[in-house]
Amino acid sequence: MSFDLVLFGGTGDLCWRKLMPALFQAFKHGTLPAGVRIIGIGRDDLSDERYRALIASRFDHVELEKRPSSEEFDRFAALLEFVSMDLSKPEHYSFLKNKLDQRQADTVVMYLATAPNLFATIAEQLRAAGLNTPHTRIVLEKPLGHDLASNRAINQTVGQVFSEQQIYRIDHYLGKPAVQNLFALRFGNALFEPLWRREHIANIQITIAEELGVEKRGAFYETTGALRDMVQNHALQLLCAIGMEPPINSHADAIRDEKLKVLRSLKPWTAETLAQDVIRGQYSAGAIAGQAVPGYREELGVNPSSNTETFVALRTEIMNWRWAGVPFYIRTGKRLAGRDSRIVVNFRPTPHAIFNSQIGMANRLVINLQPKDGLELHLLAQAQDKRQNSNNLAPVHLDLDFDKRFGAERVGAYERLLLDVMDGRLNLFVRSDEQEEAWRWVEPILDHWRNDAQGPRPYASGTWGPSATSAMIARDDSCWSEEC
Ligand code: BG6
Repeated sequence: MSFDLVLFGGTGDLCWRKLMPALFQAFKHGTLPAGVRIIGIGRDDLSDERYRALIASRFDHVELEKRPSSEEFDRFAALLEFVSMDLSKPEHYSFLKNKLDQRQADTVVMYLATAPNLFATIAEQLRAAGLNTPHTRIVLEKPLGHDLASNRAINQTVGQVFSEQQIYRIDHYLGKPAVQNLFALRFGNALFEPLWRREHIANIQITIAEELGVEKRGAFYETTGALRDMVQNHALQLLCAIGMEPPINSHADAIRDEKLKVLRSLKPWTAETLAQDVIRGQYSAGAIAGQAVPGYREELGVNPSSNTETFVALRTEIMNWRWAGVPFYIRTGKRLAGRDSRIVVNFRPTPHAIFNSQIGMANRLVINLQPKDGLELHLLAQAQDKRQNSNNLAPVHLDLDFDKRFGAERVGAYERLLLDVMDGRLNLFVRSDEQEEAWRWVEPILDHWRNDAQGPRPYASGTWGPSATSAMIARDDSCWSEEC
């Protein structure tokens, strides 16, 4: 078996921040396919040697324990080659074709880690050069377009060049171990299924909180914002994983059919829900871990009077028999109080209280995604308060730390997804109809904001976002998991 992985955007941010470290981890774990060659594509005129040196220097930014020793890196670097291309020039694709033809690899993967406005051009040029053979797969990084129309246009163009079975749309949240464990928890265990419904669940909260600001991506972020960057894709995929019906088997389309049904069942927006149930915020100056940080409008590449949102919180419902009436809250933002991503399932309290202090206390399942992945089941136990015949309850946790259980050297999100592309497994990739449905659902929010003079609400860096977020959830007599 031989394998060519062609990385468009081979000198870009995503490549050195995520893809190369993930490929290196797979190399270390011995899971890269035998006979793999990795070809970086970029505009610069680099020899293979200089490309390897560039990648080596970029590993300085990788977490210390994941950095390769020089001997290890040299063995990995031997797999790397570089081709300089102007992506609009047909002759450059012919050159790439010649290079690939010389080797005739069994499988070729074209990974498009470039700006999405290049996807259609690259796909068309690949076809024109005869590079869309049946043994080729194409990987598309998010964001895929920036509204429903542009998303459809990309899907249509790429769909004329490659079949849906050859297209791998990445949402790296689906590759996170915690998300795969959520599938395992729900569909590999009988315990929760009878409880996983409106009769027993009061509400579900999905939080993706980041401490980082927009870093050096100000110019990109200005035209994107948190709704397009995080909600349309990552947060909705998490919601699907929580809300979907058990698929009939583990094949990609069986899973994707069920996710699509969830997206189609999301409560349609009305003028009232748009005004009440969606909050947009923007970080102002504040402190993160004791360090002063500037506000969004002071960041490099950002318009000083920008209205781009760096925070979104919203309330929705899945309108079907399982979930009717159960609020699903989504909250995501930059420069929040911590890097803390989790899904909280709040169960309903017991129907009748026989203990003191029982009222208002209920079970909770927490699926932690970041900074560490794990599961916590919050139960109530007898309080140990030394008084005899105590009738008081106290909260206790059953805590499953996956690092402790399986070891910290587990497969990261990008490593998992890259290996799946190489193995031809589509389960953790997003189908075009899912993606379009997600855009269809977020578009009314974008339209509403366009006409809303109020703009995003400011929140100080290092907090949990605008105070309106707590007021929104309080309307349902509930509160965010860190508040209660
Ligand atoms: C990316 C977004 O998709 O996800 C970034 O474009 C965000 O803005 C990142 O920071 C978060 O990913 P993770 O894995 O660090 O939670």
